[in-house]
Amino acid sequence: MKKTILTGLRPTGNLHLGHYFGACQNYLKLQDDYEFYLEIADVQALTDNFNNPEKVRVNVYEITKDLLAIGLDPNKVNFFIQSKIPEIAELTVYYGNLVTVARLQRNPTVKNEIAQKKELFGNSGESITYGFLGYPVSQAADITAFKGELVPVGEDQLPLIEQCREIVRKFNSIYGETLLEPVPYLSENKRIKGLDGNEKMGKSLGNAIYLVDDEDTIKKKVMGALTDKNKIKKDDPANPDVCMVHYYHKLINSYENTKIVEEECRKGCRGCVQCKKELIVAMNNFLKPIQDRRKKYEENPELVEEILNSGTKKAQEKAKNVMNDVKKAMKIDY
Ligand code: TRP
Repeated sequence: MKKTILTGLRPTGNLHLGHYFGACQNYLKLQDDYEFYLEIADVQALTDNFNNPEKVRVNVYEITKDLLAIGLDPNKVNFFIQSKIPEIAELTVYYGNLVTVARLQRNPTVKNEIAQKKELFGNSGESITYGFLGYPVSQAADITAFKGELVPVGEDQLPLIEQCREIVRKFNSIYGETLLEPVPYLSENKRIKGLDGNEKMGKSLGNAIYLVDDEDTIKKKVMGALTDKNKIKKDDPANPDVCMVHYYHKLINSYENTKIVEEECRKGCRGCVQCKKELIVAMNNFLKPIQDRRKKYEENPELVEEILNSGTKKAQEKAKNVMNDVKKAMKIDY
């Protein structure tokens, strides 16, 4: 029998290269060999976007189209919408007893997010809701509702998987062996840097290249990318290791081309403008097949609807079975 994968994405914006080279490339790699549930986590997105439901709704479809565009096969991957699986909400309530408030406050990912919010919205601790603080509990419900064994994620998600494992152990120790402890699956490129040289590519950082970016947008972004600050003149020798243009050549261009970029840069016989222009071409070539595939779904939104419906149906069946086991174990199977 195939092992089960459960993973999810918050529908708050389009996918960028950070997502692609982070978790999404692994989705592609794993889709053939697992029973694969891919959750569009609208409930989780609402925990900090509850006052902006339209944004979440739009992005449910945007992110699904992005995921189909990268080449995920809806015959292999069950795409589903979190809010359509009431068992997840139900499990979240029961798991709430198995985790302390202090433990949630210590979760490094949640802690980071709270710090970021304080930076953006001022230092009022009251702006952190019960729902937001508790989203790791809900994420543990996401994973365990499908007895997810493997969870392909970016490294920022590790504390959430760890918290899920703790909840599973606690549940099993009290109510008997029922749930599975999931294992995270990380990509080789742990984290993709931004165009500005920031360690992380992110929407809120304004340094991302999106899979839907058109040629003009790519041009503007690449032209503004960080290069070696010590290179003043076109024929100064420079250090490609500190240059984001080289970094992206390495990511998406061929090995041979990247080698040339590197050698010429070090020797001082390659201007940054030329190098950026070559990157723009390579980037557009890289994005073209993704955008071509996306077009089919943009022109036929009913296809996306069908894919979400059929995936959600499969997810509902699976979650119902797991919920029965949980209720039996908890002696609430009236
Ligand atoms: N927290 C993830 C994110 O921020 C999304 C997510 C929701 C998820 N449920 C999940 C990831 C379950 C892995 C497993 O993108």
